[in-house]
Amino acid sequence: MTTSTILVADDDHGIRTVLSQALGRAGYDVRTTGNAATLWRWVSDGEGDLVITDVVMPDESGLDLIPRIKKIRPDMRIIVMSAQNTLLTAVKATERGAFEYLPKPFDLTELVNVVKRALSLPKSPGARTTTEVAEEERLPLIGRSPAMQEIYRTLARLMNTDLTVMINGESGTGKELVARALHDYGKRRNGPFVAVNMAAIPRELIESELFGHEKGAFTGAHARAQGRFEQAEGGTLFLDEIGDMPPEAQTRLLRVLQEGEYTTVGGRTPIRANVRIVAATHRDLSQLIRQGLFREDLFYRLNVVPIRLPPLRERAEDIAELASHFLTIASEEGLPPKALDPAAMDRLKRHRWPGNVRELENLMRRLAALYSQEVLGVEVIELELASATSAPAAPAGTDGEGLSDMVERHLRDYFSAHADGLPPPGLYDRILREIERPLLALTLESTRGNQIRAAQVLGLNRNTLRKKIRDLDISVVRGMK
Ligand SMILES: Nc1ncnc2c1ncn2[C@@H]1O[C@H](COP(=O)(O)OP(=O)(O)OP(=O)(O)O)[C@@H](O)[C@H]1O
Ligand SMILES: [Mg+2]
Repeated sequence: MTTSTILVADDDHGIRTVLSQALGRAGYDVRTTGNAATLWRWVSDGEGDLVITDVVMPDESGLDLIPRIKKIRPDMRIIVMSAQNTLLTAVKATERGAFEYLPKPFDLTELVNVVKRALSLPKSPGARTTTEVAEEERLPLIGRSPAMQEIYRTLARLMNTDLTVMINGESGTGKELVARALHDYGKRRNGPFVAVNMAAIPRELIESELFGHEKGAFTGAHARAQGRFEQAEGGTLFLDEIGDMPPEAQTRLLRVLQEGEYTTVGGRTPIRANVRIVAATHRDLSQLIRQGLFREDLFYRLNVVPIRLPPLRERAEDIAELASHFLTIASEEGLPPKALDPAAMDRLKRHRWPGNVRELENLMRRLAALYSQEVLGVEVIELELASATSAPAAPAGTDGEGLSDMVERHLRDYFSAHADGLPPPGLYDRILREIERPLLALTLESTRGNQIRAAQVLGLNRNTLRKKIRDLDISVVRGMK
């Protein structure tokens, strides 16, 4: 076997040396240069099997070189490394045909693995050439923490695919924003993006909401109505709060995903589904599965590519950039421009952020609206954080909270989420079911599926329990721990 030659371009001498040693040890021939012109000369002379290039170089951007290299050497594998670790860099690198994007600093073992993988792959037909993302375009996602960079890399890899994605993360971590980025930078970007929130639709209307209904399919169906699947045709369907999907709808959705077609409520002709599914939840689905509240088979269908959005407190290094970003937006919306002094910024980094990025966003907007001084100090932050955590809706400090307090807090949030209107009808039953289901499921779990003992524990008539298990579609596993 002939030895592969790797061309390395980076204006940092130290990095060139380190890469050269590591790749040399792995058995490759390595040539290094500090500028794009030399790299270009080597490539056009037909040298090298793989290129590793930095983005910022004295003469030309490594990113701009990619399409030119691909044009004359379509088979050349290109790995881009960059310290400009934004979503845009990752997306651009992939869009222009890079095999992999590595945010600096990276692990040398990882680099060697990527090189091996790139060289072992069959020669690719060349990446898609698409319209460039405008240089000055506002990035949808802010933050350069390692956790966010990992997410950008995943997003970049998913760009040319239709793979189903499951986004998990606490409330306010940016799940919807990521779902939109998947769509906006993906191959379906010219199609519609349709979001549907499973927690907000009365359970008896979910099927018609998703799949549509025919005229007269049920009382009140005065005309044929399109479902979300149909609206999202050719685009992306975002199933938000998928953990709140009622069991019957889960079964129905699973069938649609398996068969690739659906029928409207009251309709007979199957319709081919042409949507890319992105799902999200703040809940722990594996726990819901154990409790019998979420179908395991549906979970595996949806969890093809899992993306976990870390809570803000796990990426405090992003806080400063996010805070400035939100202050800029506030001033663009007409509020007076504001800045934070270093102590104030420090205080923000130490906060726990139970409401994550959304909480930070709201705080910045509040600061811009309420305070007259242009540079805000730590006292202001202390004041605002203190008043925010004592508000009844704040989910902080739930220790020692009673069930009824928790329910009240939840309902308060729920009502305030519909500030401009009322929640959809059927609230009473919906809420009672939410409580009944874990109550019954956990009791059954602790009696190892023994329904007679569960009925005793609950103080329910056995037939009543059996009926409720059926109605709530709770799966009873005998002997289950
Ligand atoms: N990385 C980020 N950069 C910039 N803005 C962000 C980022 N993450 C979240 N946001 C902003 O924070 C707010 C909350 O984000 P989003 O609605 O996507 O969260 P979510 O995870 O869907 O929350 P929930 O579970 O409550 O629905 C939005 O206004 C969003 O624009
Ligand atoms: Mg959301």
